[in-house]
Amino acid sequence: MKEKFFFRCRTCGYEIKDFKEWFEHNQKCTKCGSGKIYTVYSTPQERISELINTENEPKSLWHYFDFLPLNDKKNIVTDGEGVAPIERWKFLEDYAKRKYNLELEIFINRNDKSFATGTFKDKGGSLAASVLKEQGIKEYVVASTGNTATAFAHYLAKAGISCSIFVPENALSDSEAHIGTYGQKLFRVKGDYAYAKKVAADYAKKHGILMTGGNLDPLRLEAKKTQVFEMLRIMGKMPDVYIQALSGGTGPFSVEKAFIDFKETGIFDKMPRFLLSQGDHCAPQAHAWTKAKKNGFPEGYQNEYPIYENPEVLIPTIATGNPGMYPLMAPLVRKTGGEIFEIKEELAVDIARLVAYERVIKIGPASAAGLAGLFESLKQGYINNGETVFVNMGESAGRALDFMKETAYTTEIISSADQCKRFNRDEYKELVWKPFENI
Ligand SMILES: Cc1ncc(COP(=O)(O)O)c(C=O)c1O
Ligand SMILES: [Zn+2]
Repeated sequence: MKEKFFFRCRTCGYEIKDFKEWFEHNQKCTKCGSGKIYTVYSTPQERISELINTENEPKSLWHYFDFLPLNDKKNIVTDGEGVAPIERWKFLEDYAKRKYNLELEIFINRNDKSFATGTFKDKGGSLAASVLKEQGIKEYVVASTGNTATAFAHYLAKAGISCSIFVPENALSDSEAHIGTYGQKLFRVKGDYAYAKKVAADYAKKHGILMTGGNLDPLRLEAKKTQVFEMLRIMGKMPDVYIQALSGGTGPFSVEKAFIDFKETGIFDKMPRFLLSQGDHCAPQAHAWTKAKKNGFPEGYQNEYPIYENPEVLIPTIATGNPGMYPLMAPLVRKTGGEIFEIKEELAVDIARLVAYERVIKIGPASAAGLAGLFESLKQGYINNGETVFVNMGESAGRALDFMKETAYTTEIISSADQCKRFNRDEYKELVWKPFENI
C-alpha cells in the first residue's frame, strides 16, 4: 500500500520516506543535506473539494486530516484550533470607500478565538504535538519570539512531551507566564531572536534533542496551509490580496504550498498578491525590498538584505532581525505582484482601540501590525477597486496584557457624582477614528 505522505527535497529532488528518516538525519535531506523539503501526499487531490464544501462546521484543522502529515488519527492532539472565524468587517470597507473611493470586500481572519493560546500558531502546535507523539518523541526544543513558543508549550504539554523553549530577552512577559504555567521550561536568552535561536541549537545539539526547523518546517507549514482551505470554505472564493505582518514568513509560504499542491485541480484559481507589513523598528525585509525595487530588481537582488542585531522594538513578536528566508520570500512576493513595506509600530495602540470600539474585539500588537498593513496598502494605492482582501491577523490581546492596558483610554479619577459628566459612548467615535482620518 502507498504511504500517505513522503517528503521531497526542494534542492535535489531526493525522496525522504518519512518523519523517522527526516528526524534521524537531523531534519536535513539524506542525500544533499538541504533543510528545505516539501510534503507530498498520495491522497487524491480532488478530495479537497469535498472537505471544503462540507455541510458541517469543522471542529478543528483536523477536518483536513487527509492533507496533513500524520498517519493515525489516534495520535491527534487538539484543542479546536484552526477554524477561527473569517469575518467581513464593514467598518473597514466603509473607510476604504469614504477615504479612497474603493469598493472592497475585506475579510479578517481573527484567530483570537483559537482556544488554546489565542494565536494562529496553535495550528502548528497541534500538528507538531501530534506528529511527535506518533513518533514516540519525548523531548523537544523550540526557539521563538513568543507566539510559537506558547503554542508549542501548550500542545506538547498535552502530549506529555518536555519542551525547552528559548525566547529573546525582549519577549513579552505574557508568553513567559503561559509557558511557565504549563510546566514547560522557559529560557530567556540575553540577546535577540537570532541569538536565542543559536543558543537553542547549541542546547539541542549538546543533548541530542530535536528542535523546530525554520519557517519551512513541515510541522508548521503544513498546518498553516489549511488557512487556504478555510478561505475557500468560508469566503467561497480566493482573495485578490493577502495581508499579514511578516516575521519569518511561514504564513505566506504556507499559502504558496497550498497552491503548489493543488495546482492541477484548479480549485484555488489564483494566487493572491502578498502585501506584507514589517514593524518599522525592525524591517530588514522591507528595507531590502525597497532598495531592490528602486534599482529595478537587479540580478541576485534577493541575496542582499541587511541584518539588524538587537533591534529596539515595540512589537517583539514579529521582530526577525536576520531574515534568512528573504532570498525565497522576495521572489515569491514579486511573483504575486505584491509588496513588502514598513508600518509604524506606534500605530498599534490606535488600531487596537479602533477594532475594540467598532467590533468589540481585543487584539494583540502583532495583529495590529497586520491590520496596519491594510491601512498602509490603502494609502500607498496597493489595492484596486473591486478587489477582495484577506487580512490574517493572528493573535488576541490575551497574548499581551500590558498592551491591552495601554489601549484603554476612558478612565477618570473622581470623588463625587457631580464631577462625572453623563456618559455617551458615541462621543468616543471621533477620538478612535482620528488617527486614521489624516493618515
Ligand atoms: C500574530 C502574528 N502575526 C504575524 C506573525 C509573523 O508570522 P510569519 O512571518 O512567520 O508568517 C507572527 C509570528 O510570530 C505572529 O505571531
Ligand atoms: Zn536534497
